[in-house]
Amino acid sequence: MIDPQTLLANRFADALAAAFGEDHRATDPLIRPAQNPKFGDYQSNVAMSLGKRLGRNPREAAQAIVDHLDVQGIAEVPEIAGPGFLNIKLTNAFLSEQAAALAGDERLGVKRTDQPHSVVVDYLGPNAAKEMHVGHIRSTVIGDCLVRVLDWLGHHVIRQNHIGDWGTQFGMLCEYLVQVGKADEQTIGDLDDFYRKAKQKFDADPDFAGRARKRVVALQSGDEQTLGVWRALIRVSMQHMDALCDRLHITLTPEDVRAESFYNEMLATTADELEQSGVAKLSDGALCVFVPKYEAPLMIRKSDGGFGYDATDMAAIRFRVNELKAVRIVYVTDARQTEHFHKVFHTAQAAGWSKNVRLDFVPFGAILGEDNKPFKTRSGDTVKLADLLDEAEERAGAIVAEKNPDLSADERDVVAKVVGIGAIKYADLSGDRVKDYMFSWSRMLAMEGNTAPYLQYAYARIQSIFRKVEGLGPGAEGKGDVTVAHDAERALVLKVLQLTSVVDAVSEKLQPHHLCTYLYELSTAFSSFYENCPVLKADTPEERASRLVLCDITARTLKLGLELLGIDVLERM
Ligand code: ARG
Repeated sequence: MIDPQTLLANRFADALAAAFGEDHRATDPLIRPAQNPKFGDYQSNVAMSLGKRLGRNPREAAQAIVDHLDVQGIAEVPEIAGPGFLNIKLTNAFLSEQAAALAGDERLGVKRTDQPHSVVVDYLGPNAAKEMHVGHIRSTVIGDCLVRVLDWLGHHVIRQNHIGDWGTQFGMLCEYLVQVGKADEQTIGDLDDFYRKAKQKFDADPDFAGRARKRVVALQSGDEQTLGVWRALIRVSMQHMDALCDRLHITLTPEDVRAESFYNEMLATTADELEQSGVAKLSDGALCVFVPKYEAPLMIRKSDGGFGYDATDMAAIRFRVNELKAVRIVYVTDARQTEHFHKVFHTAQAAGWSKNVRLDFVPFGAILGEDNKPFKTRSGDTVKLADLLDEAEERAGAIVAEKNPDLSADERDVVAKVVGIGAIKYADLSGDRVKDYMFSWSRMLAMEGNTAPYLQYAYARIQSIFRKVEGLGPGAEGKGDVTVAHDAERALVLKVLQLTSVVDAVSEKLQPHHLCTYLYELSTAFSSFYENCPVLKADTPEERASRLVLCDITARTLKLGLELLGIDVLERM
């Protein structure tokens, strides 16, 4: 199985080489899906740029390509249009063959990479001792999708949850815990509340503040009693985080945590190495890396000898390359950290730590409320992630109850969870991640449009077709070959065949919204197929059998696509 775009590109490469010489084999044939089916299924614009480069009329260049192009069994002879566009129409026989091949292919045409490599994906990374809030959903959901895609393509994915567990505030928190006595779930209770109380005490009581500062030193130099208290605090935070990850079906497990504290012992060596190689320089007693274009340096060691977020990221990159053997590292964080990661990447390159390692920064924008301001609760507080998930499930439950009053309460709960969580994730993934996006319950839960419920519904609808076929008795599914004939069938199969190039693009550009758009287009193509091409009431058993194959490959593509986004499907809704 090979997707048509790649297949055509290979044939074009042969034609370019034959027509213009071997040197042109590597010329990008610029094959893209056609915008308008009237003009064919794919289009190549290579004749225009090539004509210019060779000083030849583009239409002539196009003709030369056509004369040397062998697409027999794949497409009709391309038509030359306008200034030299090549319009390519795949044959029905080819589409039928491809659809039949997909029907027997568990991976739906998506091949495992022949160059698997170790990729670190750094995502989630909340700060410990605080509740996770709405802001954390983005890194979590986007990171999880990238992990799933890279993993499905056969890469060795190493998930890294870079939790903030080592800053100066932990001195204050540990000191407060020592004061209140036992460090367990009950004493800590609500993490935010606990944090607030500790901070209040810190601000109001200078004695306490002094002890809190000493605690930081004790903690970072490994004082056992302090470490014990700190561990208890982290344990409670982790339980909180794990529970949320469970609800979100995030593939990250506790073994994937390498928090800031993990790098503590490597910080001094990291700093020394950067200093000795001359990459970092002393400035007012602090060890800094000055990066062109930025005023503030990357702070490797503060003037008081302490290490912070910057140094930790340098130690982490070194560890990931040297110990985890990563050849690609993907960082999924808020766009506000763009400057930080530019500096970190620059420093790693300058120090020669990331030779032959691809460093990808995957920034995302903020979540806004419908008033266009940062998304907050009515009273102006940050929205806790747990509350947000509760509300999603509740709202989805109400919609489900209304749509389908026959469901039992248990069934409804299951559907509500899958739909509610799916809607939140999809809303986050379906827009260009770099942009801010507006959080809207009504939009994300809509049954129409580019939403998770719409896609989940499309999947469930196809399953109901199969249940009806079963109801018709044995043999009702018919037998026979796949025959793609109707335009709506053609359009549907063409879409299904694009899955592989979309998944590749997501792994390359790290932009999940392309997969969302694709799935949405696929469901629209299915709707139009279903309207135009009767399945159960097909004219002949052969036609029914053929159309059921198209239903099947569509459903499996939807399911796989949603799975790669981290979203579940339901057999009925
Ligand atoms: N804890 C950080 C924050 O809350 C995110 C960590 C991102 N990863 C990293 N390697 N710095 O902003």
